[in-house]
Formats: sequence, C-alpha cells, structure tokens
Amino acid sequence: MRRILSVIFVLNSLSTSTTAQLNILAQLAGKKYFGTATDNPELTNTSYVAQLGNTLDFHQLTPANSMKWENTEPERGQFTFSGGDAIVAQAEKHNQLVRGHNCVWHNQLATWVTEGNFDNSTLLSIVENHCSTLVKHYKGKIWDVLNEVLNDDGTFRESVFFNTTGTAYMGAAFRAARKADPKAKLYINDFNIEGEGAKSTAMINLVKQLRAEGVPVDGIGVQSHLIVGGVPPTMKANLQAFAALGVEVAITELDVRMNLPVTPALLEQQKKDYKTVIEACKAVPRCVGVTVWDWTDKFSWVPGTFAGQGAACPWDENFVKKPAYLGIIEGWLI
Ligand SMILES: *[C@@H]1O[C@H](CO)[C@@H](O)[C@H](O)[C@H]1NC(C)=O
Ligand SMILES: *[C@@H]1O[C@H](CO)[C@@H](O)[C@H](O)[C@H]1NC(C)=O
Ligand SMILES: *[C@@H]1O[C@H](CO)[C@@H](O)[C@H](O)[C@H]1NC(C)=O
Repeated sequence: MRRILSVIFVLNSLSTSTTAQLNILAQLAGKKYFGTATDNPELTNTSYVAQLGNTLDFHQLTPANSMKWENTEPERGQFTFSGGDAIVAQAEKHNQLVRGHNCVWHNQLATWVTEGNFDNSTLLSIVENHCSTLVKHYKGKIWDVLNEVLNDDGTFRESVFFNTTGTAYMGAAFRAARKADPKAKLYINDFNIEGEGAKSTAMINLVKQLRAEGVPVDGIGVQSHLIVGGVPPTMKANLQAFAALGVEVAITELDVRMNLPVTPALLEQQKKDYKTVIEACKAVPRCVGVTVWDWTDKFSWVPGTFAGQGAACPWDENFVKKPAYLGIIEGWLI
C-alpha cells in the first residue's frame, strides 16, 4: 500500500522531482534494487547517512574500498574485516542488500601478493583462500568475484594473477566463492563493456567458456562509468546479449561525468544519459538492478581521478537533486 501511494505521489510530482523515489520505481519495474556505493569516511556525515538509509531510493550498498584486498588481507593470512563490517552494519539497519567488492582485482592489491614471486599453485591457493574467507565472512551477499580481467581490445589483462596462473585463477576464485557460500550471487565485473565492441565480445566468450567448464558465474557486472553524451547506443542490445548467456546482468558502478564547470546544458544531457542507461536495464528482464558509484558529487571518485572532470552523480555536493535524478525516474517509468 505504501508503495502504491508512493508511486502516485511520484507521478503527481514528476515535474518537480523532489519526492520521487529511485528504488521504489526500480522494484515496480521488476528489479531487485536500486543502490549506491558508499565508503567508510563518509559515514561520519549524519545527513549523508540519513539519505544513505533512505530505502525509498536505495535498497543496496556497495563498499567502495573497504573490502578490497589491500584492506582485507594486508598481510598474508591476516584478515581485517572492520571497514567492511561497518558498511554491512549500516546496510543491515535498513535491510539493504550488499554487493561485496571484490575478491580478485589487479588494483588496490596487497604488495605481499604482487611482490611475493609465488608459483602457480601457491598463488592459486592464495586466491582461493582470499575469496573463500571473504565470501564466508560476508555470507548471503552478491559478490564481484573478478574485477577488470580484460583489456579494452578483448585480450586478458596482464596481472600477477594472469602472468602466474594464466586464466586458472578465474575458475579458482569462483569455485572457492561458491563453496564458501552456495547462496551468494557471483559476478564478473568490468568497465567499457556497456556497448557492443571487442571487450564486450571477449566478455561473452569468457563467460561462455567459464560456464562450459562448470565455473559458477551467475552474473556480469557492467560498471558504467560514463561520460556525458557518451552512452553507447548499443547498450540495451549489449545487455541483452549478456543476458542471453543465461546469467544475470547488473549496472554496478554508474556515474556520468562531465568537463567542469557545470552548465545547464551539460546537466540536461546528463539527465538524458542517466535515463538511457536506466531504460536499457529496464528493457532487459535479467538486468536485476542498478548501483550508482555514490549518490552525491561530494563523495564522487571522479574529480580525484579525472583532472578537470566531475559532477557525475545524481545529487550535487550539497545533497540537492540534479536533473539526473529525474532522468533516472523517467527511465524507470518509460
Ligand atoms: C606481466 O607480464 C608482462 C609481460 O611479460 C609484463 O609486461 C608485466 O609487467 C607483468 N605484470 C605483472 C604485474 O607481473
Ligand atoms: C596453473 O595451474 C593450473 C592448475 O593446475 C593449470 O590448469 C594452469 O595451466 C597452470 N598455469 C600455468 C601458467 O602454468
Ligand atoms: C555533510 O555534508 C553536507 C553537504 O556537503 C554539509 O553541508 C554538512 O556540513 C556535512 N555535515 C557534517 C557533519 O560533516
């Protein structure tokens, strides 16, 4: 009943966009969640935390950093869960789902892994132990088991894992995760796989191959760190092609950055871009949800990573909704 009333409220107030609700509309579109990334230092801002717990907008959280290898196993066999535990506790207060991020990534990796000169079988057991320990500690979650294992041209990324084990680490990570928690949803996650192209084709071939070998890949995470005006026109067809493999699809790290300064024209294009992405997910039944890579420009990773760019999130740095917010609403409603 509350849901029905909310939607009526949303429809009546679309022109102002002040009361519309992202997760409610996602769920009405048949999705499991609309969610957001967050990070531990942000949890000291009480008004930020209040909106983070607004389940009308968010039913899922992803820890942006605290579950990464350098933070969870900084020394071999010594696990620290406190950062990740704090995000999970925040999510549990509001019955929000959690996406574990991530088991295996070439970045933000502990130096003992990159500098250990481990042989193939030792590194495989290190990967298995890391994934198994994380997924067991954080049971009942969605997991990005593998993150960014492909290059843009579709070849495998060279990393300590690939250089040492070939592709054997991939199956090892997924199998260890499945064994640690048979109910966890296990994903392979990457960027520049939003539209059709060499990298998306490589992802399709890799997931096909892994699943043919019995590797338990449940889903493909499409990061979607996009640039204003740059949503690939083939996004819907591409998500459909992923889904046709028999796996789930999720938009896992959505933001749409622009060259600063912000202008009304850029904000209007950004609104269209958010809407296009949401429409693509909406149109593909196996696309289960959308996560923005934080909801406010105040805590966006973009300015720190891309010089001269920013304003990528649906709320501005003062927690005021931007036209992009209405773009998301329109995407779910269309
Ligand atoms: C992996 O091997 C390639 C080719 O030999 C090398 O250029 C690259 O630095 C290696 N990367 C790591 C992380 O070992
Ligand atoms: C590493 O070991 C695995 C498991 O035995 C094997 O399948 C794989 O081919 C090996 N990789 C390399 C590069 O030797
Ligand atoms: C939280 O962030 C908002 C928006 O930038 C700011 O106005 C407020 O002072 C911050 N509050 C705390 C407690 O840091």
